[in-house]
Amino acid sequence: MIIFDEVINRRQTGSTKWDGHSLMGVPSEAIPLWVADMDFSIIPQVTAAINGRIAHEIYGYSLPSDSYYKSIQGWMQRRHHWVTEKEWIITIPGVVPAINIAIHAFTNPGDAILIQPPVYPPFANSVLGNGRKLIKNPLIPQDGGYTIDLQDFEAKIKDNDVKLFILCSPHNPVGRVWTPEELKSMADICLKHNVLIVADEIHHDLTFPGVRHYPLPSLGSAYCENTIVCTAPSKSFNLAGLQTSNVFVANPKLREQFFTLARCWGVGKVNAIGLVACEAAYTYGDKWMDEAMAYISANADYVRGFLAENLPNIKMAKSQGLYLLWIDCNALGLSPQELESFLLNNASLWLNQGYTFGDEGNGFVRLNIACPRSLLVKAMGQLKAAIDGSFGSKTKL
Ligand SMILES: Cc1ncc(COP(=O)(O)O)c(C=O)c1O
Repeated sequence: MIIFDEVINRRQTGSTKWDGHSLMGVPSEAIPLWVADMDFSIIPQVTAAINGRIAHEIYGYSLPSDSYYKSIQGWMQRRHHWVTEKEWIITIPGVVPAINIAIHAFTNPGDAILIQPPVYPPFANSVLGNGRKLIKNPLIPQDGGYTIDLQDFEAKIKDNDVKLFILCSPHNPVGRVWTPEELKSMADICLKHNVLIVADEIHHDLTFPGVRHYPLPSLGSAYCENTIVCTAPSKSFNLAGLQTSNVFVANPKLREQFFTLARCWGVGKVNAIGLVACEAAYTYGDKWMDEAMAYISANADYVRGFLAENLPNIKMAKSQGLYLLWIDCNALGLSPQELESFLLNNASLWLNQGYTFGDEGNGFVRLNIACPRSLLVKAMGQLKAAIDGSFGSKTKL
């Protein structure tokens, strides 16, 4: 049985989150609650599958097996009510590489690509880094959460002749799990204006109890034909270090274009260990996933309660999923750089800074709550003490 409260020492394991302090110039004692991986151990069946593969002692180029594809299709059907075909699935070492392949396969230099900030920073970086034009349809804060400005969405598409839309569903960092109506409204506008959709659904399993994620292609065949869906077991099952992702391309013409480029760049192959880990996770992981999300949801309740009681001016965005909380610290009256320094040096907390998600994130932070509750309790205590002026001393508010 996995005990989510168990504190596992991840230092000196080569962990980006726990061992990256000196490399990134962060004080060594700062609690790392930033990059999106979990501090929980994974189910024994995944470890057993990995150990079984390792015992063979030959790790040459590897192909996905039939059972690999079946495990993915089974997971999509059981968990997301989405019936897929094996031929649609293309294995790739990561979702960010998949987004970059899509940008190259389906747009030309200078073409306009739309994103919805605040959003996962590699979206903007991939657009700009590949010499495409970045068009923004910012999400709108509403009732303590976020919503989509559909009028602006369509106007930006028309005015800029947008070719590609990178959708984040569910949305990192604001934690929105989009409703079918929201998804269809965006997808219909894209169909009307010939805009292809890359749907980054990497967080699809991370919904709070009772909340359902809808894969965009599952909402209708026209959407299915117009969407490249990026998924992975990496966020759901804490396998990010194994670099194994699955992209679904139902449209044969788009699939051929995508696959040709992936092969040309040499990124069509995946990790031998990742293949067996992914298959085991999707085969045996249902119960763990439910338990993990119940624990994470309770962690979110804890942080919300703590802030409401102790730091009522610091607001957490209403969300329906993800193990990442989007927190508004604007009431502290600090610039983005001052906020970063205050959190690192006074509160000894290493969080993702909102400004990295676009200007819309200024004054916000993203807090990773996929950790034992005791670590969050410590982190919240340090935050309050720093704001009260009794912890750390370098910057006074
Ligand atoms: C929305 C989103 N897409 C992609 C990734 C990373 O994908 P990969 O590591 O497979 O490139 C993340 C990681 O946090 C993410 O939040």
